Amino acid sequence: MQRQEKIRTRGLNLFYGEHHALKDIDLNVRTHSITALIGPSGCGKSTFLRTLNRMNDLIDGVRIIGEVSIDDENIYQPNVDVVALRKKVGMVFQRPNPFPMSVYDNIAYGPRIHGLKDRRKLDEIVEKSLKGAALWEEVKDRLHKPALGLSGGQQQRLCIARLLAVEPEILLMDEPTSALDPISTLKIEELVQELKREYTIVIVTHNMQQAARISDFTAYFLNGEVVEYDTTDVIFTNPRDQRTEDYITGRFG
Ligand SMILES: Nc1ncnc2c1ncn2[C@@H]1O[C@H](COP(=O)(O)OP(=O)(O)O)[C@@H](O)[C@H]1O
Ligand SMILES: [Mg+2]
Repeated sequence: MQRQEKIRTRGLNLFYGEHHALKDIDLNVRTHSITALIGPSGCGKSTFLRTLNRMNDLIDGVRIIGEVSIDDENIYQPNVDVVALRKKVGMVFQRPNPFPMSVYDNIAYGPRIHGLKDRRKLDEIVEKSLKGAALWEEVKDRLHKPALGLSGGQQQRLCIARLLAVEPEILLMDEPTSALDPISTLKIEELVQELKREYTIVIVTHNMQQAARISDFTAYFLNGEVVEYDTTDVIFTNPRDQRTEDYITGRFG
């Protein structure tokens, strides 16, 4: 049977030096769901996202207390293979960041790093990943052209395809459409909804309409705390906390 719960945090606190950026976060993320993180700028959304694949380990002076479990394993235990973790839990950023190489090589990069050399197998992975990211039709005739020649929206889907190529289970997206035009944004939103069949997705968005359109669950962050976490429907139509209501109705933030 499939687990209902893919990610669980308990008593999660994070400090940047003296600055207490995440405060006692207890959150469960359901398998094959889209969870949106909303809240004003600087409230800890990106920080939280980075705790889920230990990207904060790369920042000096960070101290983390508490638990983050993925498939019931605490990823902060000392014996955890961080490279394998980041393969399983991939991340897409605000600005698309393709490597300065061909479309093909961008996608083949991860599998090659993990030791795959067979050209036919790589071809298959490239095609499958680009199809998975709804980009294949647009780039199949330019696989060997520079990825940086693609439009911003195509580059963002390429970055998603690059993740899919290493067969992740969780996709973390940090405001993936904030640098894109409305049509590219819509394509990414459709793609994200498509992807939840196979992946578990956590997405930060400052766009509340986007959270309401695409997510199943929403967490409202404020000053490093999760004020309210519920189904997206409840958060947007019947929030329990006054602060959530103020935020979603635009009275704050
Ligand atoms: N690398 C860092 N070093 C020190 N402080 C940081 C760092 N990254 C974020 N912060 C601080 O942590 C808080 C939360 O930031 P962040 O997670 O980026 O918020 P959000 O994504 O919600 O805008 C902010 O006060 C920010 O200034
Ligand atoms: Mg952020």
